[in-house]
Amino acid sequence: MQTLLFGNGRSVEVPPFTTGLLKWIGNKQRMAHEIASYFPTNYGVYFEPFLGSGAVLGTLQPKRAVGSDTFAPLMEIWQTLRTDPERLKRWYAERYVCMMSGDKVAEYERIKASYNRQPNGADLLFLCRSCYGGVVRFRQADGYMSTPCGPHRPVAPDAFAERVDEWHRRTQGACFRQLDYREAIAQAKPGDLVYCDPPYTHSQAILYGAQRFRLRQLLDAIADCKARDVYVALSIDGTKRSGDHLCRLPIPTGLFEREILVNCGRSMLRRLQMRGQTLEGEVVADRLLLTY
Ligand SMILES: C[S@@+](CC[C@H](N)C(=O)[O-])C[C@H]1O[C@@H](n2cnc3c(N)ncnc32)[C@H](O)[C@@H]1O
Repeated sequence: MQTLLFGNGRSVEVPPFTTGLLKWIGNKQRMAHEIASYFPTNYGVYFEPFLGSGAVLGTLQPKRAVGSDTFAPLMEIWQTLRTDPERLKRWYAERYVCMMSGDKVAEYERIKASYNRQPNGADLLFLCRSCYGGVVRFRQADGYMSTPCGPHRPVAPDAFAERVDEWHRRTQGACFRQLDYREAIAQAKPGDLVYCDPPYTHSQAILYGAQRFRLRQLLDAIADCKARDVYVALSIDGTKRSGDHLCRLPIPTGLFEREILVNCGRSMLRRLQMRGQTLEGEVVADRLLLTY
């Protein structure tokens, strides 16, 4: 497998797009354009089976796409963006007005209680933008959303509405479905492209309630894709300080052709250069593995 450093081996220029619709832990908004610049120049349908906040899909603006995730309230948000963006704006504005015209924390807790009584996209949309640090955290045992109210002022409804319009336009070619990644990936045909950003780390498994996720099964599914001539790009969290992190993952020899270190931002790169250390033992960047 060939390892390429920041910027080498790109196939397309993709302009940055940093205005997120949702706040989602582990979201790739800041580096989505970097990731997308390593995608093949030509492909059929774009699949993003671990959609989360859809950062890469929104940045790429594919002509035809399937965005999916197992998390039902999240997919309700995406489906509403597609079918009724005005409704999405109303969901947000109603909750914003209540929160800002009353006791902010009490109102946040009321919305959170409503979500926890019956998980739904409308409450989740507002909670992810107003919760502490934008980290929507779920209790492992029962999926209870536990994040407290954030100290910040959530983005105003007018500005949010503009984001909805922008994201509606950018995702015109996409259909959104609640699916396990295996079901989603199985639909990919020769020449299609699949981008995977799985919750493989332990911390993320807790956050998303995705304890049942197994990287090995994903790698099998990726091998199937490769055998069917489907292009696959896989993000692996490289922000850990562990030199042989990747080596310890059960990656079959020959599955990936290239490994890219995707720049997480200039400061990270500068810090690295200043220290003048080797990449091995350092926190550097996200890793992107490509089957092509
Ligand atoms: C690391 S996040 C994706 C973040 C995304 N790239 C972004 O920019 O926001 C992983 C996502 O995988 C979803 N997920 C967990 N297990 C899954 C499964 N078996 N099938 C599909 N999606 C799953 C989680 O709900 C979560 O949204």
